[in-house]
Amino acid sequence: DGEVYKYYSEGEWKKSSSGKSVGIINPTTRKTQYKVQACTQQEVNKVMETAKTAQKAWAKTPLWKRAGLLHKAAAILKEHKAPIAECLVKEIAKPAKDAVTEVVRSGDFVSYCAEEGVRLLGQGTFLTSDSFPGNERSKYCLVSKIPLGVILAIPPFNYPVNLAVSKIAPALIAGNSLVLKPPTQGAVAALHMVHCFHLAGFPKGLISCITGKGSEIGDFLTMHPGVNCISFTGGDTGIAISKKAGMIPLQMELGGKDACIVLEDADLDLVASNIIKGGFSYSGQRCTAVKVVLVMESVADTLVEKVNSKVAKLKVGPPEDDCDITPVVSESSANFIEGLVMDAKQKGATFCQEYKREGNLIWPVLLDNVRPDMRIAWEEPFGPVLPVIRINSVEEGIHHCNASNFGLQGCVFTRDINKAMLISDAMESGTIQINSAPARGPDHFPFQGLRDSGIGSQGITNSINMMTKIKSIVINLP
Ligand code: G3H
Repeated sequence: DGEVYKYYSEGEWKKSSSGKSVGIINPTTRKTQYKVQACTQQEVNKVMETAKTAQKAWAKTPLWKRAGLLHKAAAILKEHKAPIAECLVKEIAKPAKDAVTEVVRSGDFVSYCAEEGVRLLGQGTFLTSDSFPGNERSKYCLVSKIPLGVILAIPPFNYPVNLAVSKIAPALIAGNSLVLKPPTQGAVAALHMVHCFHLAGFPKGLISCITGKGSEIGDFLTMHPGVNCISFTGGDTGIAISKKAGMIPLQMELGGKDACIVLEDADLDLVASNIIKGGFSYSGQRCTAVKVVLVMESVADTLVEKVNSKVAKLKVGPPEDDCDITPVVSESSANFIEGLVMDAKQKGATFCQEYKREGNLIWPVLLDNVRPDMRIAWEEPFGPVLPVIRINSVEEGIHHCNASNFGLQGCVFTRDINKAMLISDAMESGTIQINSAPARGPDHFPFQGLRDSGIGSQGITNSINMMTKIKSIVINLP
């Protein structure tokens, strides 16, 4: 109806002076669902300026008060889970139940982060000089953690609320201010989430949310001299950002090609259910999705059969009906997935199901007998398409995992704990799950990627630490 959602700056909801908007296409209907402001570079400048001023006062606000406001925001967020989840359903076609879970998980994240921050930042270190050769006990060093300043948070479309709060909460508890640039798909859910922080009563300018086209304000934001740290989750754009960003800390999570190694002695029912959950939840649009199965040839037939019987039970359709497989986020994403599928077809992969697509909706497909010359063996589809590579030795599986550009997570299924440990050690990925599909949560666990999967480590504690720097005060005795 022409209504354009306002952006959030200086503690107020505003219209952009550009007079322009950006449309958000509903992946299911493929029609414009919402519109957000196309903010200008001047508006970015204003947000940065107020973020800098607000941060100075916020850093002096007692830690327990900062935590109190975060607890309040968490409660408001949970109270408003229904309307926020509805936006997720319309903007990114997240299945209805998963959309609610995302908001609840986000509220829990904010509360946990407030508690963790109070404990972690409430203590420092005390050192004395006489442990280093040549020194008397004449210097006392008091070490504490201080905020970085203005944090720029750029979350991806697949968790516009959760991966936004996982940057906002650590930033704020540590005494930083925060500028959020939400993904276009998911921007309205993010604006609703920001409104919960607004209702909680954070000081003006401490949090801002600027919307618009990445092509117009993306580089301007990430290269802005007022930014003291960037926390980004997404795709290749992160690599480009890291090349352009100045000398500031970066926290980046840039996707994965999580391998699932299956040994002969594995519980194949357990493997099959984890492949379904890991490979097809939210239609495979998770950086931690199982993206390649590496199964020992001797059990491959049985495993593929078990997975196929579960694929047949997946409900395909609109997110409103809480289907398992819903339309992927955009037409270009669906086209990209289709390109990988066609490449595999042309090179002789076995299609366990017929490939079927209607608009952005792609039916789940398991591709057996995938070989390393196929693009799908290496690239991440971010869709409901899962390749199976049959291996003749564990080393072959480990080699495939380590030859990938990505190194986010991985998993190994076996009943032999010794083998599980050896393989986990040998797999060069940020996290290896033994006998379960990869996953980021529980959200206080460290979460990090190797190689092109990212820089730095997340998880509540690591994010708080990452968004602070060390300050020492040395008392010199006469
Ligand atoms: O898409 C990237 C997310 O960090 C994955 O999170 O494992 O909770 O789905 P998840």
